[in-house]
Amino acid sequence: MHSSHAVTTLSGRRVVVPGGTGAVGEGVVRRYLAAGADVVVPTRTQERAEEFRRVLGDAATDRLHLVVHDYTTFAGAEQLAEEMQRRLGGVDDVVAPIGGWWAGKRLWEIDESDWRDAFVGLAAAHMAVLRAFLPRLNTRGAYTLIVGESALTPVPGSGLVSMEQATLLMMRQVVEAEAAGAQRVFALVLGPVRTRLVDSGDPDWVSADQVGAVAVAASAAAAVSGLEIRLRTQAEAEKALAALQGNQPGRTGAVVATSTMEPKNGRREDLLQVLADLAPQIRAEEGCLDYSVHAARGDADGPLLITQKFASIEAFTRHSASVADQIPKLAALLATPPMPPTLFEPVL
Ligand SMILES: NC(=O)c1ccc[n+]([C@@H]2O[C@H](COP(=O)([O-])OP(=O)(O)OC[C@H]3O[C@@H](n4cnc5c(N)ncnc54)[C@H](OP(=O)(O)O)[C@@H]3O)[C@@H](O)[C@H]2O)c1
Repeated sequence: MHSSHAVTTLSGRRVVVPGGTGAVGEGVVRRYLAAGADVVVPTRTQERAEEFRRVLGDAATDRLHLVVHDYTTFAGAEQLAEEMQRRLGGVDDVVAPIGGWWAGKRLWEIDESDWRDAFVGLAAAHMAVLRAFLPRLNTRGAYTLIVGESALTPVPGSGLVSMEQATLLMMRQVVEAEAAGAQRVFALVLGPVRTRLVDSGDPDWVSADQVGAVAVAASAAAAVSGLEIRLRTQAEAEKALAALQGNQPGRTGAVVATSTMEPKNGRREDLLQVLADLAPQIRAEEGCLDYSVHAARGDADGPLLITQKFASIEAFTRHSASVADQIPKLAALLATPPMPPTLFEPVL
């Protein structure tokens, strides 16, 4: 990874990394600690906690919070989220490198315990963490799932892993559609990774540390509202990092956000009314330069185009958080779920 990439600071951010004790998780934890964040790593056993502290060595600063806790059930994940609220005042980001590899049987050869361990158990752990933490995040932070490319390409003999990982990619898409911009949800799709357990291998593989660097950049890239990012080669890691770092706050000037809204049959006037009611509040927001609603010429029933201009990405991010509670009201009037706005920045 080239040293020309900017050092990202996430000082004050509270990040939880379930699965952080694992081979990929280590790189994620190291990078968030290096970026200045407070990092909570839940682990299911005391033994694993002690081993992980040894693995981290001097990197285990007082901003590392190792918690022995079973976060893989709905109740367990909820308790962890409540505990973070009590101890740290909330949570900003989640990175979930939960789970490992499984192989050895074709699909029709598996038994019920394989199914429960390699599919149900892992999918349930991800679901438990997502449902406990996602509602607690705002647009400042990011929720990042980590999966392997077996989610995209079947691996004979490891079908349960492929199916479970593909489920997670669809989970990201569903959440992105349902959250409609209120939370930023990423998936990092990895090829084989160089880790503390597998340090040899093709030099073109990405390292656990590089996975962590991309997760940190996704957290910091407030203008990016969610992506599926392929990280299978050095070139893909470089490209992802450059694209995400180009979107960090303070690197751009004004931003223009555009969204299209297709009203439900007979609800166009109601939609216009909600948008009009919001106008004074939005126009009064710090950094708001323009808020306008447009219709296509000659189409009195068609979709509406909303354009907004803000002085900076920071101002736009604050705006997104301040109108997040209006999304259900708008969604009820729309024919299709609201999508995150497209952001433009000046190029000339
Ligand atoms: N390693 C690679 O080369 C590679 C390549 C491509 C993709 N990936 C993806 O990256 C993610 C992490 O992989 P990894 O290699 O870091 O795995 P890992 O070393 O096995 O670590 C996974 C962590 O997940 C936690 N976990 C929670 N529930 C689990 C369960 N039911 N079974 C196993 N672990 C469970 C464990 O933490 P606690 O025991 O501390 O709770 C464990 O430390 C996975 O989604 C994997 O598909 C890895």
